[in-house]
This record gives sequence, structure tokens and C-alpha cells, in this order.
Amino acid sequence: MSTVSTEIQGDIAVVTVNNPPVNALSHSVRAGLSDAMKILSANDAVKAVVIACEGRTFIAGADIREFGKPMQEPHLPDVVNEIEAMEKPVVAAIHGTALGGGLEVALSCHYRVALTSAKIGLPEVKLGILPGAGGTQRLPRIAGPANALDAIISGRHVSAKEAKSWGVLDELVEDDLLAAAIACAKEATSKGPRRTGEIEIDGSAFGDEFFAGFRKSIARQTRGYFAPERCVQCVEAAVKLPLAEGLKRERELFYECAQNPQSRALQHMFFAERQVSRIPGIDKDTPRRAIKKVGIIGAGTMGGGIAMNFANVGIPVTLLEVQQEALDRGLGVVRKNYERSAAKGKLTAEQVEGLMSQFTGTLSYDDLSDCDLIIEAVFETMEIKKKVFTELDRVAKDGAILASNTSYLDVNEIAACTKRPEDVLGLHFFSPANVMRLLEIVRADKTAPDVLATCVDLAKAIRKVGVVAGVCHGFIGNRMLSPYGREASLAVIEGAKPEEVDAALFNFGMPMGPMTMSDMAGVDIGYLNRQGMGRENYETKAYDWVDRLVEQGRKGLKVGKGIYTYAEGDRTPQPDPAVMAIVEEESAKLGIERKSIPAEDIVERCMMALINEGAKILGEGKAYRASDIDVVYVNGYGYPPYRGGPMHYADSIGLEKVYAKICAFAETFGPRWWQPAPLLKELAEAGKSFADYDRENAG
Ligand code: CAA
Repeated sequence: MSTVSTEIQGDIAVVTVNNPPVNALSHSVRAGLSDAMKILSANDAVKAVVIACEGRTFIAGADIREFGKPMQEPHLPDVVNEIEAMEKPVVAAIHGTALGGGLEVALSCHYRVALTSAKIGLPEVKLGILPGAGGTQRLPRIAGPANALDAIISGRHVSAKEAKSWGVLDELVEDDLLAAAIACAKEATSKGPRRTGEIEIDGSAFGDEFFAGFRKSIARQTRGYFAPERCVQCVEAAVKLPLAEGLKRERELFYECAQNPQSRALQHMFFAERQVSRIPGIDKDTPRRAIKKVGIIGAGTMGGGIAMNFANVGIPVTLLEVQQEALDRGLGVVRKNYERSAAKGKLTAEQVEGLMSQFTGTLSYDDLSDCDLIIEAVFETMEIKKKVFTELDRVAKDGAILASNTSYLDVNEIAACTKRPEDVLGLHFFSPANVMRLLEIVRADKTAPDVLATCVDLAKAIRKVGVVAGVCHGFIGNRMLSPYGREASLAVIEGAKPEEVDAALFNFGMPMGPMTMSDMAGVDIGYLNRQGMGRENYETKAYDWVDRLVEQGRKGLKVGKGIYTYAEGDRTPQPDPAVMAIVEEESAKLGIERKSIPAEDIVERCMMALINEGAKILGEGKAYRASDIDVVYVNGYGYPPYRGGPMHYADSIGLEKVYAKICAFAETFGPRWWQPAPLLKELAEAGKSFADYDRENAG
């Protein structure tokens, strides 16, 4: 079936793209558009052309699945130039999203009509590339360099209304898009083509100073990324050069980006995030349970944050606390969060009240009896969790889903204390729960398929990325965090300063180093955990110095001192000689001769520890795919997306090298903590990657 068809209505030709699901610019679409332009150019009966799309959206971009493969002609930049060069007016009829190459096609049309619900954008930067079919040259010409930079660097979806104010869209309609586009085309027959590429930019306000200021304004958010700087250079070229030269520069910079490993990593993340909801054994025919009302137990920071996710999408929430005071405090925090959004202009006062009206507070478990899903977010001990679930078993209606927000505990054991383990699973939110995108969905041994399927869909509905994990200590994310933290902490006892460890990992791309993270979370949390563990179960060398800090009251940021010291009201970590004195004493006690450790070695040990644990999790079937682990690390722990997550990073190094490195670490540091994961060994010996594993095992 052809993906591009033409229908002639009087003297107007309507060219329709039909390439589900998102009308991506696959080879057949590019060829179809190019052929249509040639044929319609030669047809004297046709006076103007409309380009429209079937299905849910206008063209949503290049076909990402063709990236990395040899591109077949015609190339998109040529197709776009061909459309713009048409002697007959061409009108784009936009619904859904005109993204990337799709917007570039629309910009090459001479007029643009859109539904008010439509959105436009150039999201290429999120895939590690830049708009390579004239987008960086045409958008600044029509929208102005400042708006173009905003759109290209953020990659955001711009509403039709805003795009019209920029001059990108000519006309907005509520419905009957095609009729409006045809009417526009008819009118254009007397006006003739109006080419975006011929618009002159008044560059007087966009000199070097403007671009220097813009670069400064995005420095923080684009730290470590390769493509954004190239995008800025393209827009500079649009301001300074004639179209043909600007397009040439765009091409060169596009190839630089496309050849950079970051583009592969970011494209891997794009597909990885879409893969997570594919669960073996579950499909669209698996029944779902309706979730119309949610109960949350615990109105602390976590419970309140979790509750907000549901209220935000119109699902009413009953929030349970044991004491009225705690309940009032919890609801007060929720209100403050919404009011803060209102102060930033993101919500109106009425919307805040509307959201608050979704909340009902209670002190009685009996009030949860009409909830379809109940999530507990109480203190993290098995004893308390079991008490809560016993109560839930008593009050919850038949078919209600019972979820624990535990970070580490055994969900099978929790489920076993109810008479309905098939209804129980883990829903592990990350703090702050109303902000962080990750949700680990913990499938216990007896969790029913429809319960799991419902929660996978629910994650999407509350705008989270839900990754299914099996039951194990810490599930995917926290289980991997443990060896990562161990290696970071060992680096300190062996000779590095905490700030050196943090700098090494920050420069690798982590949002903050592990020492700062530990101070933020509270150094005492790990301490309390270790107290209950027995010294034979953890690497004492790594943590004795940390425990001494806690024993001296250095519990972290919350008390103004931990691994670092903090000035009153200031969250900036300050290195403290008193901490170094303790570290040095502990090193001496252990007979360690302190020596400086190069940043690359610190990073390597921490990364190898993450990868090895990830491979164990995968080999044990606690994650369905390596790419799911990447999604967890990027969305829950701030792992740099441009490295594609720890497992993709391992693939980019090569698993043979990774395996050899881990074996070498086992030699140097002893095998206790450096047993190579059996799956890693198997893949390395077979010359395979984690991506191969995913392809062969999880589709
Ligand atoms: N190429 C190939 N497949 C694509 C695609 C693309 N550009 N965009 C989406 N898809 C696929 C998805 O992988 C998904 O496939 P499965 O159902 O098999 O998983 C399907 O289309 C539906 O996508 P979503 O689940 O994301 O659907 P949604 O309704 O939530 O979102 C969307 C739709 C807003 C278009 C979103 O898919 C999206 O943002 N896509 C990417 C758009 C993009 O980045 N375009 C720029 C491409 S780069 C470019 O164009 C470069 C250039 O100029 C040369």
C-alpha cells in the first residue's frame, strides 16, 4: 500500500500521507512526496497543493528506525527544498504533532493551517541530533532567532496558539481542517508561493553578544551534551549566512551529531522508554481493573507526593494517617506544593482548589473500603508493613489492588500476610514522588497478570515511566546503588577526598556525586541499615569512616554537617578538615597507605560495579531487559541520558572489555565484591552485547 496518495479536488491537489502510527518520514513517504511534487508541478489543471495526513497526527518526524542504516534517496533535505521551490502554492494541514522532519516539511510549505489542538516542535536535540532538513535555517527566519533557539534547544512541543504568535502558523481552526486548508490553498492561488527560506532575518539584535548570553543561559541544563552547542551554531549560521550556505553548515553539523555516540545513546533511551510497558505474558487482551479511587496510607512527604500524582489526573484520593495532626500537616504540604505551582503561574487559584477537592483525609481504615487501589507509604520495617497489610486485607473490597511503596523489603512476604496475595504488588515511587518520573512496579510471585497490567497502564496515566522489577533486595535501582556507593566510599578510604570522588562522577555526567547524595538522603539512614545487618554482610572498610561521622552527630544536610559541612541556610557542600582527619585515622587503622586516585579510576570502579550488579539482576530475571535497567537509572538516579544508561554504556565500551576489567578488579581487590555476573561472562565470551540479549530474549 502506498503511503502517499493524491486526490484532485477541482484545481486543488490534496496529497495525503498515511504511514501509521505517526506518519514518520520513512523512505516511501519521502519518495511519495517527492514524486507528488514532480507530478503536480507538471499538471496544469492543478493550481495549488495541500499536504495533509491520515490518522492521529501530522508527520511526527524522520523515521527513527531508519537511523544508523544507509539512507535511501531521496533525502529529506532535498524533498523539503523541492516542496519549497514549487511554483504553485503549497499548504500544510496540521493536526496532532508536526515534529522534527514533519515541521521541516511544514516550514517548506508556503502556508500552514492547523487545528487549535495541534503542536509543533523540533525535538531532535533529545535524540542527540539537530534538525537536519532546514529546520535550523527556516525556523529562525519565520519565528525569529530567539523563539527558534528556545524551540530547538528545549525540543519542547509548542502549542498551536504560541506557534501562531511566532508567525509559524497562519490560521487555526477548531475542526474541518482539510476544508480550511483547501480554502487557504484556493486563496493562495492569487497570492502565489511564499517561501520561508526567502525571509530576510534582521540580524542587528542577534550579534555575538546575544549568542554568548544565550549559551550562558543554557550551560547548566545542557552540561555534557554534544548536540545543543551545534544547534546554537546552526542558528548563528541562519542569522549570518544566506540560506544555501546555512543549509550546508546545518548538514555538516548534523553529521557531526549523528556520528557522535551520544545520538545512539539518546535514541536507545527513546526506544527503551517505549519498551518498558511490553511485559511478557501480558497483552492488550489481558483484562484491566478500573481504578477510579485511590487510597494512600501515610501522609508524609512520600504519601502526599504519591497522592498528588492521582489527583493531578482527576482520580480522587483518600489519605489516611494515624493522627489528625499528621493528616493536617500532610494535606497542608500538598496544598503548599500546589500553591507554589500557582505562584509560578502553572496553575490558577481555582485549579488549586479543584485539585485539593480530590483529597479526602481520614483516620480510619474503614474509609478505604471503596478504593480500587490502596498504596501504603508508611515506615520501612517489615513489622509495620505487615500490620498495615493485615488491616488492608480486612477493609479493602474484593478486587482492590494492594500496593506497598517499600524500597527494599520482600514484597512476597508482605503479600503472604494477606488472604489475597494475587492482588498485592510493589509500587516504588522515587522522592519527590510528585516530580520524579520513575515508578518501579514490583511483581511478586503471586501477583495476578491483570493487577500487573493495570499498574503498567496506570503508570502511563499518571505520566510516569513504569518499569517492572522482580522481588529482590532493593529491586533494580537501589540494589545497583549499593555496590556503586561501596566503590565510591572505598575510594575515600584508599586516598581520595570526598570532593574528588564527587567531582569525578559529576564530570562523568551524574547530577551530583555520591557523597553529596548521601548527605542529602541522610548519612544516618545507611548507618541504621548497617546496624541491623551484621558486619560480615557488608564491606566494613568502605563504611567504618562513615559510621564514625554519624556517631559524632554528622547525619548529613538536615543537621548542617555530614560528609561535608553546610553553612546555615545554604545547601552548598563545604569540605571539612575534621572529616578528613577521621578518614585518615581510619585509613591508618586499616593499614592503608593513602594514595591519590585518578578520576577515571574512580569512575571506572563505580561504573563497573553498577554494570556488574545490573547484569546479575538481568541474569536472575529480576529485570526483563537491559534497557529497562537503563530506564531506571536515567529516570530514577539522574544517570546521564546521553550515555544511554549503565547497560548501554557497557555495550558502548564492549562487554569483553567490561568483563576483563571486572576480572582484573577481582584480582586486585579480591573476589568477595567482584564476582563477575554469570550473564556478563556468557555474553562477553559469545562476543554479544546487552542489546543482543534484549533482542533475543525480550523482543
Ligand atoms: N520514527 C519511528 N517511530 C516512531 C517515531 C519516529 N519518529 N515516533 C514515534 N514512533 C513510534 C513509537 O516508537 C511507537 O511505536 P510502538 O507503538 O511500536 O512502540 C509509536 O510510534 C507510537 O509512539 P508513542 O508511544 O510515543 O505515542 P504517543 O502518542 O505517546 O506520542 C509522538 C506520539 C509525540 C509523536 C511521540 O512518539 C514522539 O515524540 N515521537 C518522536 C518525535 C521525534 O523525535 N521526531 C523527530 C525525529 S528526528 C527528525 O525528524 C530528524 C530530521 O529532521 C532528519
